[in-house]
Amino acid sequence: MYRTKTCGELRLANVGETVTLAGWVQRSRKMGGMTFVDLRDRYGITQLVFNNEVDANLCEKANHVGREFVIQVKGLVSERSSKNANIPTGEIEIIASELNVLTKSETPPFTIEDNTDGGDDLRMKYRYLDLRRQCVRKNLELRHKMTMEVRRYLDEKGFLEVETPMLIGSTPEGARDFVVPSRMNPGQFYALPQSPQTLKQLLMVSGFDRYFQIVKCFRDEDLRADRQPEFTQIDCEMSFVEQEDVISMFEGMAKHLFKNLRGVEMNEPFLRMTWADAMKYYGSDKPDLRFGMKFVELMDILKGHGFSVFDNAAYIGGICAEGAASYTRKQLDQLTEFVKRPQIGAKGMVYARVEQDGHVKSSVDKFYSQEVLQQMKEAFGAKPGDLILILSGDDAMKTRKQLCELRLEMGNQLGLRDKNTFACLWVVDFPMFEWSEEEDRLMAMHHPFTHPKDEDIPMLDTDPAAVRADAYDMVVNGVEVGGGSIRIHDPKLQAKMFEILGFTPEKAQEQFGFLMNAFKFGAPPHGGLAYGLDRWVSLFAGLDSIRDCIAFPKNNSGRDVMLDAPAPLAQAQLDELNLAIDLKEE
Ligand code: AMO
Repeated sequence: MYRTKTCGELRLANVGETVTLAGWVQRSRKMGGMTFVDLRDRYGITQLVFNNEVDANLCEKANHVGREFVIQVKGLVSERSSKNANIPTGEIEIIASELNVLTKSETPPFTIEDNTDGGDDLRMKYRYLDLRRQCVRKNLELRHKMTMEVRRYLDEKGFLEVETPMLIGSTPEGARDFVVPSRMNPGQFYALPQSPQTLKQLLMVSGFDRYFQIVKCFRDEDLRADRQPEFTQIDCEMSFVEQEDVISMFEGMAKHLFKNLRGVEMNEPFLRMTWADAMKYYGSDKPDLRFGMKFVELMDILKGHGFSVFDNAAYIGGICAEGAASYTRKQLDQLTEFVKRPQIGAKGMVYARVEQDGHVKSSVDKFYSQEVLQQMKEAFGAKPGDLILILSGDDAMKTRKQLCELRLEMGNQLGLRDKNTFACLWVVDFPMFEWSEEEDRLMAMHHPFTHPKDEDIPMLDTDPAAVRADAYDMVVNGVEVGGGSIRIHDPKLQAKMFEILGFTPEKAQEQFGFLMNAFKFGAPPHGGLAYGLDRWVSLFAGLDSIRDCIAFPKNNSGRDVMLDAPAPLAQAQLDELNLAIDLKEE
C-alpha cells in the first residue's frame, strides 16, 4: 500500500497511530536539529517532522528533499506543541520513521501556493502545476459536485441522459462554427456543435420526453471573461410542456443547486421581467438586480429648456445613487471619463446632487430652474445626500446601454455587488427577431426554432420585428446563466419562420431538412433550456472569469498555451485531407 491515510484526514483522535502518507513536498524548513516538511495531496497538508537526534541519516535524507518531490513517509501521529489553527490537520504532525523519494522534481516555475508568484501566462503554460494549488483545485471540486447534483436532480425528475454527436453539420444562424475536415469525404467538413439544439429536438420526436446532457459546445466567437470557445452546457429538453412547465422545472434545479452547494434556501419564486422592461429600466437583457438604480426617463422634464445637448436628444435618462452626493468633483470627472471611453461611447455626463436642505445642485444649473430640478428629484424619489447621474443621446437603445455601464460601475464603486448575495431573475418575452446591420436582414434572436407567442403570430405577416417569442433567460447577478424556449413543432410555422429569416424553401430544406422532415412524422409540443455549467460554477465560486473553473482553459486569443494549440498541420497531413493553406495578408 502506497498510503494508509491522505494528507487531509489526520486529527488529534489519530494520535498514536502509525500511518503511511504519500504526496508532494510543499516546502521544508530546518530548525535546529529538526526538519519540518509540509506534505501535500489533493486532500490537504500534513506536517512531517524529522529529528536529527533520533535518526540522523533519515534527517539528512529529508534535508535533500526539494519542493514538489513526490515522497512516501511512514511515521507516528503525534500532537503538535505549536498548533496551526489555519489548517484542519494543524493539531497533529507525523514523527517520521521512514522516507522514500518516489520521484524528484525540478524547481517549479512558480510557488504552488494560493498566493503564488506565478503570472497568468506562466500558470497557464504549466496548468498541471497550477491545478495543484488548493484555490484552483477547489473550483474543480465544486464543478464536480455541481454535475453530481445536476444529475441527481434531473434523474429524480425522470430525465434521461443521452449523448449526441460531436461531429455534425455546419448550421448558419448563431456564432461561427469550428469545423473539422473529413479525410474520407474529400473537400467536406464536419462542424462541432454550438449546442445540441436540433438533435435534442429530434430526440423529442423520438419520444424521449425528458432529455438532458452535460455537453461540450463549441463557438468561434470573440472571448470575454464569461466566454470560452469550448464550454459546457447542461442541456435539457421536455415534451408536452408549456413555458411555465420548463421555467418551474429549471427554477427548481437552480434552487436545488443553491441549497446543496451554497447552503442558500430560496423559497420565493424568482422575479420575472419582460425583455422590454429589462431594456427600459436597466439597459440590458441581463440586469444585475443585487442593487436598485433603476433608470428614470427624463425627456418630459429636461427637454426644451435651452440646453441643446438635451433638447436634441432622442433619450435622456438617469440613475440615482443613494448617499453618493459626497462624490468629489474629481470622482465625478473620473465617472465622466469612464462613460466617454470608446468601449462605452457616451459624449458626456450630467450630474445633480441633492443637498441636505433638499435643494438640487446640478452641473447644468444655468439651464434649469430649481422648480424643474425639483421635478426631476421627485421623478427619482431622491433624498438629501443622493447623487443623480444623467446621460443622453440620439439613439435610445445605445444610450440605455451606456447608462447600464454607468449603473454597473456605480454598483461596483458603492460596494453593491457582493459576491455572496444572489439575485435571480427570469427575463421573458424576448423579441423573436433582431435586425442585423451586418446581414441587412432580420435574424432569430434566440434561434430559428423558437416559438412565437401565440397572440403575436398574426404579426408575423404584418410586423415581424414586433413579434415576441416564448423565450426565456435566467440571469443571476447580471450573468446569463441559461436560456431556452418553447419550440415550433408545426412544420408550416417552421417553414414560415425560415421564409422571414430570408431562406428560400430550397435553402431551408438543404440546411434544416432533417428537422423539417422529422416534424412530418408527429412532433410533440416541446421546449427546453440550456444552463451554462461554467458560468454557474464561477458564480458559486465567486470567480471573475469562467476560465478558473475549467481544468485546461483557452486564453483570450483562444489559445491553449500549454498544448500550444492551435498550430499549423504538417504538409503530409494537409495532403491527406486534400487541404491547401492560402493565408491572406491582414
Ligand atoms: P444559448 O446560446 O443561450 O442557448 O446558450 C445557453 C447557455 O450557455 C452558456 N454559454 C456559454 N458559456 C460559456 N462560454 C460561451 N461561449 C457560452 N455561450 C453560451 C450561457 C447560455 O445561457 N440551444 C440553446 C438552448 C435552448 O434553447 O435550449 C442555446 O444554446 O450560460
